[in-house]
Amino acid sequence: MEKLEIDNISKLLKIRNPNSHKGDFGHALLIAGSQQKMGAAIISAKACLRSGAGLLTVAIPKEERNALFSTIPEAMLHFREEPIEFSKYNCLAIGPGLAQDEVANKLLQSVLSAVKYPIILDADAINMLASNKDLILQLPINSILTPHPKEFDRLFGNHSSTEERIKTAIQKAKEYNCIIVLKGHETLITDGKQSFKNTTGNSGLAKGGSGDALTGIILAFLAQGYEPINASKLAVFLHGLSADLTLENQSEESMLITDVIGNLGKAFK
Ligand code: APR
Ligand code: MG
Repeated sequence: MEKLEIDNISKLLKIRNPNSHKGDFGHALLIAGSQQKMGAAIISAKACLRSGAGLLTVAIPKEERNALFSTIPEAMLHFREEPIEFSKYNCLAIGPGLAQDEVANKLLQSVLSAVKYPIILDADAINMLASNKDLILQLPINSILTPHPKEFDRLFGNHSSTEERIKTAIQKAKEYNCIIVLKGHETLITDGKQSFKNTTGNSGLAKGGSGDALTGIILAFLAQGYEPINASKLAVFLHGLSADLTLENQSEESMLITDVIGNLGKAFK
């Protein structure tokens, strides 16, 4: 299995044309957050905007709009009680802090029946797939699933070791034509044909919110037109590298995911 390291990863990063405009870097849609988990939406949105997306719209419950406006004025909002015009966006992520109620289930189903471009499913979107397994057959080709081990087991059955999970991940990625990012200490990325193991990151990331940031970073790379497999590789590597750079000022105990997002610029450089 190939390791993700600075030499092979930095080659994937495209140079931004000096004469570019926001339209060159895509318009991402993030469907995230619910009354008690707006932090997940905010973290994910910040990470996305720190990773190069041209425009970001966050679909949230209307009553939570002030949380978004006051923390990320750069993001646009869509109130998810209203129908979503999916063709306005070139990529989409669904799941961080979404909850699994009826509204969330309907949102996921509307995404799966309308969207043709690859999408990212994280957290509660994965949990909803796990409770309605036929939905996985509706995933657009090359979509990205980002489960942590528990979410992975909910979706694909219980496993007793990381090695066993890796085998299943490779099989399932092939079977469903998707990319699986199996998160953990050495995150695995596989499309069923090629598999990669990450080398960055530390236990400072073992905290609520870290996965939400990763989703935002992958989304930003999709917005910018990267292939889903490269978007996943770059995002996983940079997310971990930012956490490693955060150790210059923080410890693994003290680091917040907000600090890690703040260091994305250093990681890109
Ligand atoms: N070393 C390196 N990386 C790590 C380590 C570690 N020891 N521990 C965690 N990470 C990284 C993972 O690789 C992953 O990218 O941190 C991220 C953790 O992601 P999640 O497990 O999804 O965690 P979290 O952000 O808390 O998820 C938020 O969504 O998945 C649900 O149930 C979860 O409610 C929670 C929410
Ligand atoms: Mg998570």
